[in-house]
Parts: sequence; C-alpha cells; structure tokens
Amino acid sequence: MGDRDPILVFSTSDKGGTGRSVTSCNIAYRLSIQGRNVAYLDFDFGSPTAGALFEIDRMDRGTTEGNGLHRFLTGKKSIPAQYDIRSETKRTDLRAPRHPYRLTLYPGDRGGGEFGATTDVVKRCVDILVICKQEFDVTFIDLSAGRSAALEIVLSAMAATQLRGAVARWLVFHRWTRQHILAANGLVHGPNGLLENGAKLGYDPGRLLDSMRYVRTAVPSTSEAPGAKGSGPQWAWLRKQNEALDQLAQANQMGTSVTLGTTPVEPVLQWREQVILDADVDAKIANQETVRAFAALADELVNDDTWTWEGDF
Ligand SMILES: Nc1ncnc2c1ncn2[C@@H]1O[C@H](COP(=O)(O)OP(=O)(O)OP(=O)(O)O)[C@@H](O)[C@H]1O
Ligand SMILES: [Mg+2]
Repeated sequence: MGDRDPILVFSTSDKGGTGRSVTSCNIAYRLSIQGRNVAYLDFDFGSPTAGALFEIDRMDRGTTEGNGLHRFLTGKKSIPAQYDIRSETKRTDLRAPRHPYRLTLYPGDRGGGEFGATTDVVKRCVDILVICKQEFDVTFIDLSAGRSAALEIVLSAMAATQLRGAVARWLVFHRWTRQHILAANGLVHGPNGLLENGAKLGYDPGRLLDSMRYVRTAVPSTSEAPGAKGSGPQWAWLRKQNEALDQLAQANQMGTSVTLGTTPVEPVLQWREQVILDADVDAKIANQETVRAFAALADELVNDDTWTWEGDF
C-alpha cells in the first residue's frame, strides 16, 4: 500500500481498563499533529465516554443531541454526528495548538447501551466505515472490551465486499500482568476469539493475524532510578517477574515481533484520562518517555514495514 492509503484501526482488548481508549486517543492525536486527518469513533456502546478523553464536557458520556453512533447504527438517524475536537474541546492547548491538526470525534449517545450485531446494524457499520475511509487518513474504532457485539459488528462489516481491500489494523491492548496476557491471547486465539469468528466470516486466518498487533500499556520500569533508595531485593523481584511475563507472552504468541509497542506508567494518566501534550512535558507534568511511546506507536501504526507478514509467530 502507499504511504497515504487510508487505515482503519480497531482498538480492542479482552479486559476492561487496559488503557485501550487513552492510548488510542493519544496515538490519534500524535498522528493528527503529523498532518494526518484522523477520526475517532466511539464503539464502546456500553460506556460511550470518548468525549471525556478529549475534554468535551457536554458529550463526556456521549452526545445528548440524539444523533450519536448508537442511534445511527440502530437506524434511528441517517447521519451520525461528528465534531471537530479542536473547536469543541475546553482544553486551551488543544483549542489553540502549536501544530494545526484535524481530529474528528464520532460520539455515542448518552444513555445508549449495547445492541446486537443484526444484518441492518452491520450494513450501517459498513456505510460509516466506507465514509470514514474516504474522508480520513486514519480512523480509530474504539471497541467495547471482550467478545462484545461491537467486535462482532466490525468483524462482520470488514468482511463485506464494499470494504474488501481496505487496510485494517487490529490493536489488542493489555496490561503487563499474567491475567491480561492470558486474556489477550484468548481474545485472539481462543474459542469465539477473533481468529475463530473471523474464519467463520471468510477471513484468511493468516492474513487476519498479520493485521493484529499487541500493545502493552502502563508497564512499570524495572530499572532503579539513579540515586534512588530502592531496596535491592524488590528490584531483583520485579526484574524476575518481568522476565517471567516476557516468557509467558512468548508462549502465548505475544512476543515482541507481534507487539506494536509499550507505554510506560504515566502518573498523569493514573490520575486523569487525557491527551498528553508536548506542553505537559515542557511544564514537567508529564514524562517525556510517555509522549515518546505514543509517538513511536503512531509511527509504527502507519509504517507498512511493521505490518509485513514474516511468518514468524
Ligand atoms: N500509561 C499509563 N500509565 C498510567 N495509567 C494509564 C496509562 N494508560 C492508561 N492509563 C489509565 O488506565 C485507566 C484505564 O484506561 P482506559 O480507560 O483507556 O482503558 P480502557 O481499556 O479503554 O477501559 P474501558 O474498558 O473502561 O473502556 C485510565 O484511568 C487511564 O488513564
Ligand atoms: Mg475505554
């Protein structure tokens, strides 16, 4: 594919609270300040809070205007609402940014809940994805956690003829713990997982797997800060656990060759879900490494070389 072929990014995770939304919105922001026209679709139907990530108060739990993604996908509205984040956010540095950017939010509806993957819903999902593919360079679809209806809807939609040939990249977010590694493996490889359900819809399992990468979020550092008074045994224990997790990830087909990247623990994000701006780093509030990690994820996401099948899983 060419450098500017549109990309549809499906953000998934087996567990909730993995950092899927916060990481996705930060990657989306990084890509947008590089000059890409980016959309963010809130497909977390049970909890449509994407507006809060971008600090748009009036739609922090979905839009109240009755034309969000819930009502569009269930056929109650023919056009879903879309908002220019730069003009809607209350965050000053996002309103008057150092770099111009184009980032569009498609919110869900306030109070909207989960709904099933009926043929009509899937058809409307195809419609919105086709439109996004035409209008945006990169479209993020933030899905509900687990084997959700949202996942089934997009998997079915991407199997439709209108989207054949579209570039899809599946990101599986997980924390760096035993339980999260096993759960993420299950979402991809397990019963009713992405590969099994994809095969039922006619996907080639090898190609589908090639379009998936893992993202390890909020990974604690295992190296003692210089001059810190940490206890030796504690750091030794942490390093040992980290090695054990590396082995577990490898054994679960989640080694580094299929990992898109890692984000460090970021104190700001432990307290608040938000876009981390360069201004936050300059003010010494957020860590430089965090922004570097988001920028690296953004680069890898659009780097075709990262997504070339090498057959070594
Ligand atoms: N790198 C990080 N360091 C510290 N905290 C983080 C990091 N990334 C995300 N978080 C925090 O973890 C929490 C869960 O993140 P987020 O809401 O993005 O997860 P999610 O998988 O989308 O959850 P849900 O299933 O509820 O939608 C949030 O409070 C978020 O700010
Ligand atoms: Mg979320």
